[in-house]
Amino acid sequence: MQIDRNQLRLFIALFLLFVATETSANAGTDGGKLFAIHCAACHGDKGDGGIGIPLALPDFLTSVTDDYLFRTIRLGRPGRIMPAFQHLSDEQTHAIVKHIRSWGRKEVKLVPGGAAGNAEKGRDIFARNCARCHGPLGKGGAGTGVNFTRLHDVPIVAPALNNPGYLAAASDEIIRTTLLKGRRGTPMLPAAKMGLSGQDVDDVVSFIRSFETQVQKADKKAATPVEPTLITVSAKPFAETVDIIKQAISARRLRIIRQHHLDDGLVAQGKENKKQLIIHFGNIQQINTLLAIDPRMGLFLPNRITVLEQEDGKVIVTSVNPLRFGNLFNNANLEHTSKELHQIYSAILEEVSE
Ligand code: HEC
Ligand code: HEC
Repeated sequence: MQIDRNQLRLFIALFLLFVATETSANAGTDGGKLFAIHCAACHGDKGDGGIGIPLALPDFLTSVTDDYLFRTIRLGRPGRIMPAFQHLSDEQTHAIVKHIRSWGRKEVKLVPGGAAGNAEKGRDIFARNCARCHGPLGKGGAGTGVNFTRLHDVPIVAPALNNPGYLAAASDEIIRTTLLKGRRGTPMLPAAKMGLSGQDVDDVVSFIRSFETQVQKADKKAATPVEPTLITVSAKPFAETVDIIKQAISARRLRIIRQHHLDDGLVAQGKENKKQLIIHFGNIQQINTLLAIDPRMGLFLPNRITVLEQEDGKVIVTSVNPLRFGNLFNNANLEHTSKELHQIYSAILEEVSE
């Protein structure tokens, strides 16, 4: 498989999601820097789009509020590849919003609320005019947004509209304005060009709102985000903790592949912090199985567990949280394996926990 520059940046962006707490802290509140680290791989350096849809389009910037942008960043689009950036602080998220705003000087102008539409009529209008791009029940188009392959006949994927992240972020006014304006420069046409009246638009807005009841369950899930890492405070001193972890790995018939200090290669040889160890483990069969399900799992293989002694003497044991894999890669086939991996990691961490 050939990996181009953008794909590489994408892998890095996704990887950062897991280690993001510290990296984001280092990036401070510089919106441009934060965007470059977390968003540019998908949305393009200047918001011109890629795997993620364009963000710099005038029609987009004038039809969404700062609150919409803020919530979209925080909630993401669960089940789509747009991640939820729960680990960014309010300040950092505002800084990114400000950076996105720097691409357009025109004012936001929302079309105020029309009459409540008729969702049943909206359903028909949607089926006739929207479903071919946005999917029958607004599940979103194929291509980008779902996976990493861009279909050449679909330059920009139609976002999912029945998505808890979208529905929680977008007000009726925002949806109505989007429909009336369309998004010039994308396949999304203004309603008038699709032959729809103002009443039709109100009906479709009501239909899109009606997705909300269907996704309420999913919304609940989104409201309790899965932590990106598993963390345990060890009841034992550093060296003993490392021994117990290794025994726990071997007891599960997984092989210890190698171990190294967290700062290997970053500091002069011999100067590494000996109390910060990463243990890599797994077996060929497990690795092959996971790679067959999704090659992107290569990022997190072999498995690794980190043992750190903090300045206060506390010993911390951490790993990625495999429950994030399925959602991160938007690959339902990973669900089962993620749960299995989660059990293995948790059980190993459990052996040293206080
Ligand atoms: C030819 C394909 C196509 C059709 C038909 C179409 N759309 Fe879209 N739609 C898109 C694309 C592509 C985007 C993303 C545009 C962008 O990059 O900003 C979009 C964006 C949207 C958005 C904004 C979603 C978001 O996440 O911001 C809404 C709402 C929307 N469409 C609703 C509709 C409705 C309702 C209809 C039918 C009346 C419709 N669309 C018809 C392709 C289409
Ligand atoms: C892994 C790729 C990826 C990353 C990283 C990513 N996005 Fe997205 N983003 C997407 C996709 C794809 C969509 C469209 C959602 C869909 O397909 O349903 C999207 C949608 C959005 C939207 C909604 C756009 C609209 O038309 O309503 C905003 C705003 C957004 N992203 C901002 C960001 C910001 C800011 C960051 C960084 C903090 C970011 N995204 C990181 C892929 C990504």
